[in-house]
Amino acid sequence: MSGLRGRGGAGFPVAAKWAAAGARPGTVLVANGDEGDPGSYADRLLMEQDPDRVLEGLALACYACGARRGIVLVRSEYPRALARLHQALAHAVADGHLADTDDTGDPKPVVEIAQGAGSYVAGEETALIARLEGARGCARPRPPYPTDRGLWGTPTVVNNVETLASVPWIIHHGGDRYARYGTSQESGTKLVCLSERFVRPGAFEVALGTPLRRIVTELAGGLKSGNLAVLQIGGPLGGFLTGDDLDIPLTSQALAARGAALGHAGIVAFDTDTDPAELLRHIWEFAAQESCGACSPCRIGTRQGLELATTGTTPRQPYERLARLMSEASLCAFGRRVPAAVRSLARAYGKELAGWDR
Ligand SMILES: Cc1cc2nc3c(=O)[nH]c(=O)nc-3n(C[C@H](O)[C@H](O)[C@H](O)COP(=O)(O)O)c2cc1C
Ligand code: SF4
Repeated sequence: MSGLRGRGGAGFPVAAKWAAAGARPGTVLVANGDEGDPGSYADRLLMEQDPDRVLEGLALACYACGARRGIVLVRSEYPRALARLHQALAHAVADGHLADTDDTGDPKPVVEIAQGAGSYVAGEETALIARLEGARGCARPRPPYPTDRGLWGTPTVVNNVETLASVPWIIHHGGDRYARYGTSQESGTKLVCLSERFVRPGAFEVALGTPLRRIVTELAGGLKSGNLAVLQIGGPLGGFLTGDDLDIPLTSQALAARGAALGHAGIVAFDTDTDPAELLRHIWEFAAQESCGACSPCRIGTRQGLELATTGTTPRQPYERLARLMSEASLCAFGRRVPAAVRSLARAYGKELAGWDR
C-alpha cells in the first residue's frame, strides 16, 4: 500500500477519498491546479514540464473511481501550463489514450481543461466546483461532501495536481516501494518550493520526514545575505518557524505540533531586517482581500483583524474574541486557519507581537 495522502494541503488519504465516491455513475475527477499559495509553484512546474504525467495520473484516478469524465482546472495566471496541457491532451486523444467525446461508448475517460477563477479561495474544492458550474468561486457548506454531491450534484473527487502526478509512479513501481520513502505515517515525497532569498531557490523533491535543516542549509544553501529570522511554510494558511525549529522533520504532524502546517510546502525566508508588524499586517491584508465573503465570521473578521494590525496596538481582548469566532465559525478552512497563522507568527517573534498569540 502506498499510503499516498493528498498534496493540496489537507493531507487526506487518497484511497479513502476515491472509495468515498463509490464508483457511482456520473462520477467526475477534478485535478486541482489552481495553486494559489504565494511561494508555491510545484503544480505549475508539473503542468508545464510534465503535462503527460498529470493527465496519466488523472486518467488512472478516473479508472480507480469508475469515472468517465476528468477535468484539469488550471490557475488562470498560468497560460503556459494551460497551453502545454491542451497540447498534451490533443496528443493523448490522438494516440488513443483518452476518449475524444463521451458518447462513443469508449471506456476511456474524456478529459477537459478549464481555467481557474483568479482568486485564492477558488482553489478550495467546493469553491472550485462552484466556479466550474459557472457561479462565483465561493466555498459552500460541507456536508454534503463533493464525493457525495459535487459538480452538478454528481459524486466528484478533487485531487491536487501533485497528488495525481504521483499515481503513475506508484502504479509502475508498486505502492510498497513508494511507502519506503517518507515516514510510517506520511509516506512518499513532496515537492518543496524555496523562495528567492535562498542561495539556491527552486523546487526540490524530498522524502517526507526530511529535517528542515537539510532542506534549508544543504539543498537551499542558506540565505543569500542577512540572518534568518523566520520561515513561512505552507503559504498564507500555513505558519511560521524560527531558526531553532530547523531540526523538526517535514511532516504535517511535526509542523502541526509547532502550530504550523505543511500546506503545499512553499518555504519563504525572512531575514532579521523584516519588520514583524509589517508581516502581520500583510497576513491580514491578504486575508481581507482574498476572503470570498460568503460567511460573516471571515468576511468581517478579516477586516477587523486588518484594522487592529494597522493601528499597531496590542490587541488583547477584542482580538481573542475575533480569533475564536473566526476559528470556530468560519465556513471553510480559509477563515478557520487565518488566526492559527497569525498565532504562529506571534509565537515565532515572541514579545514583539504579544497579544496576537492566542
Ligand atoms: C482557501 C483554500 C485554498 C485552496 N487552494 C488549493 C489549491 O490551489 N490547490 C489545491 O490542490 N488545493 C487547494 N485547497 C485544498 C482543496 O480544498 C482540496 O483539499 C484539495 O484540492 C484536495 O486534493 P488532495 O486531496 O489531493 O490534496 C485549498 C483549500 C483552501 C481552504
Ligand atoms: S471562511 Fe472566508 S473564504 Fe471561506 S467561505 Fe467564509 S468568507 Fe469565504
